[in-house]
Amino acid sequence: MIKPLSPSLPAPQWDIHAPGRVNLLGEHVDYNDGIVLPAAIDRYVHLQAVETGHTRVELTALDLGEKITFDLENLQPQALPDWARYPAGVAWAALQRGLPVSGIRAVYTSSVPIGAGLSSSAAVEVAFGALWNELNRWGLSRLELAQLCQQAENRFVGVNCGLMDQFASACGIKGHALMFDTRSLSYEPVPLPASTALVIADSGMRRTLANSAYNQRRADCEEAVRLLRVYLPGIRSLRDVRLDDFNRFSAHLPEQVGRHARHVVEEIARVEKAVDLLKQGDGAAFGQLMVEGHASLRDLYQVSIPELDRLVEIATCLPGCLGARLTGAGFGGCTVNLVEEESAQIFAQRLAQEYTLRTGKTGEIYLCHASEGVHVQTG
Ligand code: GLA
Repeated sequence: MIKPLSPSLPAPQWDIHAPGRVNLLGEHVDYNDGIVLPAAIDRYVHLQAVETGHTRVELTALDLGEKITFDLENLQPQALPDWARYPAGVAWAALQRGLPVSGIRAVYTSSVPIGAGLSSSAAVEVAFGALWNELNRWGLSRLELAQLCQQAENRFVGVNCGLMDQFASACGIKGHALMFDTRSLSYEPVPLPASTALVIADSGMRRTLANSAYNQRRADCEEAVRLLRVYLPGIRSLRDVRLDDFNRFSAHLPEQVGRHARHVVEEIARVEKAVDLLKQGDGAAFGQLMVEGHASLRDLYQVSIPELDRLVEIATCLPGCLGARLTGAGFGGCTVNLVEEESAQIFAQRLAQEYTLRTGKTGEIYLCHASEGVHVQTG
């Protein structure tokens, strides 16, 4: 018997946990065919549902105290509040592919903070996708499920994200980061250094204008490829541009485009180095690359904010910290810190205190570990 989250679902048939994620390195490279290194975290969207036998979806978002009903035969984003567009988008993407989607009554709650850059929306999509995948026997692999959810976000919600967040929520592996090649779509779990914790520091700053700035960065990357193709025929994306070639030709790019593209080219090279270090278990050298990655996001890609910079500065001076950087799209949200397990509690306390002293703002710290991807149970 599944214990119901809400009295409105006395006997849930389905119980799903889909995790949020952090990205350890490889930021803003998933839409440039690069390699990313995310890990699912032990904070989850928790969804319960029963099948209703008609074409309506009745949703309750417990944390928001909101309810809505929509019909699967008439799915339109404009008619829905923001939060309902994620589940509805998944249904829409499935129907587009000719997959069956059952009407459900569903409730959900989330321990992934909203708008903090920990992929709460991808976790909602993956939770609903995993539910329908089982309920309607779609037979999708976890990677295919992630792709369906990305399509929901790109085409129904209208956010032009890459595949990393949905992938991490669907495919996470306990104790591991996932080296995910967003071009070949192959992936490999890489163990995190022994006896380390992922300490996530939430700046409390929510991402404003993030969507338009994100799309602008994407456009700059595409523009760089278009202009560099004159000198490097045959390149399809910034993944194809080696650093020495970039150095030879970057003077031909407009200043901002060149700066943004440099981050991507260098970050892709950094991830390749970082994966080797992780495989050798060299947490200290890996952590150093995280710090370099942050500097690049701050100075070249220009997606950091002062609060995130302060969090990284403070963290790197505290005992037990191997590495620190902003995680996710930036413009607000969280930093991720790789910290020796035995120092993690004190590190967390001191980081929070010092952050308030330096900025006057209140941050929140989540002590996390790398976790399994989405899990579906039926009762
Ligand atoms: C957001 C997007 C991802 C990725 C990151 C930046 O989280 O959803 O696809 O582009 O930003 O690395």
